[in-house]
Amino acid sequence: MSAYPAKARPEVSALGSSRIRDIANAGMGRDDIVPFWFGESDLATPDFIREAAQQALAGSRTFYTHNLGLIELREAIAAYATRLHGITLSPQRVAVTGSGVSALMIADQLLVSPGDRVVVMTPIWPNIAEAPRLLGASVVRHPLEISNGRWTLNLDKLLHALTPDTRLLILNAPNNPTGFTLDSASQRTILEHCRKHGIWLLADDVYERLVFDGSAAAPTFLAHAEPDDRLIAVNSFSKAWRMTGWRLGWLTLPTALMPDVAKVIEYNTSCVPAFVQAGGIAALSDPRGEEAVNKLKADLDAARTLLLDGLQALGRIEVPRADGAMYAFLRIEGMPDDMEVAKALVARHGLGLAPGSAFGPEGEGWLRWCYAARPEKLSRGLERLERFLQTV
Ligand SMILES: Cc1ncc(COP(=O)(O)O)c(C=O)c1O
Repeated sequence: MSAYPAKARPEVSALGSSRIRDIANAGMGRDDIVPFWFGESDLATPDFIREAAQQALAGSRTFYTHNLGLIELREAIAAYATRLHGITLSPQRVAVTGSGVSALMIADQLLVSPGDRVVVMTPIWPNIAEAPRLLGASVVRHPLEISNGRWTLNLDKLLHALTPDTRLLILNAPNNPTGFTLDSASQRTILEHCRKHGIWLLADDVYERLVFDGSAAAPTFLAHAEPDDRLIAVNSFSKAWRMTGWRLGWLTLPTALMPDVAKVIEYNTSCVPAFVQAGGIAALSDPRGEEAVNKLKADLDAARTLLLDGLQALGRIEVPRADGAMYAFLRIEGMPDDMEVAKALVARHGLGLAPGSAFGPEGEGWLRWCYAARPEKLSRGLERLERFLQTV
């Protein structure tokens, strides 16, 4: 035995393994499972996006690109933000990243030092709280509350938690897993408070297009901010254009951070493959991109109604209504152990749901069901849950 055991940094050892994976791994390879555990559509990327990437490959676009991405893509992203939110955004403030996950990590690497205080709104998709911990930050969790059957943010309590020694606030809305959306007035209040104390704000907007209140997109902090505010917004092609496997996202940053973000990207991935970026350009510039997003939204809205009504009809299920993202977050009366329930659903009924505790202690007792699925599949899932409820 070596006197020097092969061990990762303590910050790495302290990270938990993914509880979603723990459940999914138990069911993988079984063809009788109806899975709803991962956050992705069961439809492949629209054809015209795939064709654009194929053409780029056929045209030998196989070389390194600029750290910040192809200028055509950065311009397309800036024009898209202007169309969607009516804001002026210079392409010079956009950095292309190899996924939303990578964009979040790069933003954390730009801002977070060991010992920094980082506040995170919870329950939350694990990466958002774990990435700052990997960098040695101390993460403070600020839980959403349920009021009148809906997830709500207690703004006063959040502002109270944002003490002047806080380095960073990370917010994700529409939220994974609850579907909670943040209104524009609250965004303004939060931004003002952060400005007053010099607190950085990291806004995860990857579900901004997946809102079901008739609007084109959820409100964004970018609409309230000045170009030099301490605000970074994360976005991704994964959800709205069904491009999860492409690993393509982007950051919107203050101008002063651009030389530094280029350095951090250099040491992570250097750049995103040119043919992947070509797919992103097509998604934003071809009119079929917007058609595909609108079709996805309409399908998700119908799926959401089918699932929420179906769950409520089963009885014994609490499922707060939410306006965004693509998840139902539910709990079953008298069944507080979500890992046990999720395991039993897979083992006995072939139904794959994500355990709520994967999203932190605030999610204990809850289950997350991704409804980006065809109606027949959702109905099969509901039947299986009904059979489970008959046995417990
Ligand atoms: C809140 C949130 N942010 C970011 C991401 C990252 O998406 P991707 O890395 O596929 O762009 C996800 C994926 O599930 C998410 O739920």
